[in-house]
Amino acid sequence: MKSKPLLLANIGQLLTLRASAPGPRRGAALSDLGILEDASVLCLGGKIVSVGKTKDALCDPWLKKNRRQVREIDCSGRVVLPGFVDSHTHPVFAHPRLIDFEKRISGANYEEIAEAGGGIRSSIVGVRKATKAVLTQKLLAALRDMASYGTTAVEAKSGYGLDLASELKSLEAIRAAARQWPGTVVPTFLGAHTVPPEYRRRSQAYVDLVCNEMMPAVAKRKLARFADVFCDRGAFSAQEAEQIFRAAEENGFALRAHIGQLSETRLAPFLRFNPASLDHLDYVNEADVRALAASDTVATFVPGANYFLGLSRYPNARQFIAAGVVVALGTDYNPGSSPTLSVPMAMSLACTHMKMSAAEAITAATINGAWALRIADQKGSIEPGKDADLAVFNLKDHREIPYWFGVNHCQLTILNGIAEERP
Ligand code: NIG
Ligand code: FE
Repeated sequence: MKSKPLLLANIGQLLTLRASAPGPRRGAALSDLGILEDASVLCLGGKIVSVGKTKDALCDPWLKKNRRQVREIDCSGRVVLPGFVDSHTHPVFAHPRLIDFEKRISGANYEEIAEAGGGIRSSIVGVRKATKAVLTQKLLAALRDMASYGTTAVEAKSGYGLDLASELKSLEAIRAAARQWPGTVVPTFLGAHTVPPEYRRRSQAYVDLVCNEMMPAVAKRKLARFADVFCDRGAFSAQEAEQIFRAAEENGFALRAHIGQLSETRLAPFLRFNPASLDHLDYVNEADVRALAASDTVATFVPGANYFLGLSRYPNARQFIAAGVVVALGTDYNPGSSPTLSVPMAMSLACTHMKMSAAEAITAATINGAWALRIADQKGSIEPGKDADLAVFNLKDHREIPYWFGVNHCQLTILNGIAEERP
């Protein structure tokens, strides 16, 4: 995939998210979008080379000389922002979970459905049966849909195979799809998603398999950058999760975890491992929020899961932000708890149910998502030298992105310098 020189001109609001201080955004800095009006962005070779007022950009000597080679996109007063960095998705699955959906409508909750054989375990069968080619095609279709909503970088977890061959197959599908998509995919090994049925009541034996066989095999093939674990009631205990973190570290993975989704688990033992991100955090105590604030670990909220599970409780984002925690937002795209790949939808939920402002939600879904994936040196803001990842919304004001919920106003997405228009 080759990128052509691109000039985005006449941008109404350019949300640069440029850094005013080093490090991830917290507190008041979450609201600093670095907005330029009547702006333009020049991209060459898949990188951003200049950002400024349209009239200055048009006087640029290089541009004057090479104007004919440059594809010029007239943004006609629209909003342009960094492509979303969706730092939490489970996109490798075979089928939707309609039985779980109907059971929930009839009143069963997530844990009851899982105990009755639904939940994560019911997605295992489909992934184990599917060929790598089928998983790759489904994932590629999802990545293209994500891009149509403005996402340019995505974390993609395995975690519905849960045996060595099926986890490797899932991660290989991630690698294969990533090669065919112009955006950026960061792979995560989630062998510790749940205990598969053949290890029922033998969770320690499964944890040993994950640590001693799966992780070395994944590491040897360089199939994942991160390792993740679902630490909660009905999944893995804090002690098991610590064993998984230790093994992940030994195998060279950076760390992230699902934690506090259904019940409270103390965060302090995990923070010692310096995880990139801890995700969900619906149940957390105040001391742990303070400990998080004192660290660079990102708290990633995934309100799509709260919405789709029909919960009235959402993470207390205001408490985290007031304490100074670095917060990010992801879709948690998966067939059980959050079948949406729309970051604007997640942002809208964060605004309406978690009382984050539109600006905070935008920062959480761009530069702080990039920090959560440790790719903030290249992604998440519109600054010279960074990758040319941008989204153009057919709107006048950035606050309209979370305002118009359930409607896609993203018109054009630029992924590493490749422009993809929505049909
Ligand atoms: O993030 N909590 C664990 N994992 C997913 C749900 C996965 C599923 O139900 O398939 C989540 O919500
Ligand atoms: Fe998840």
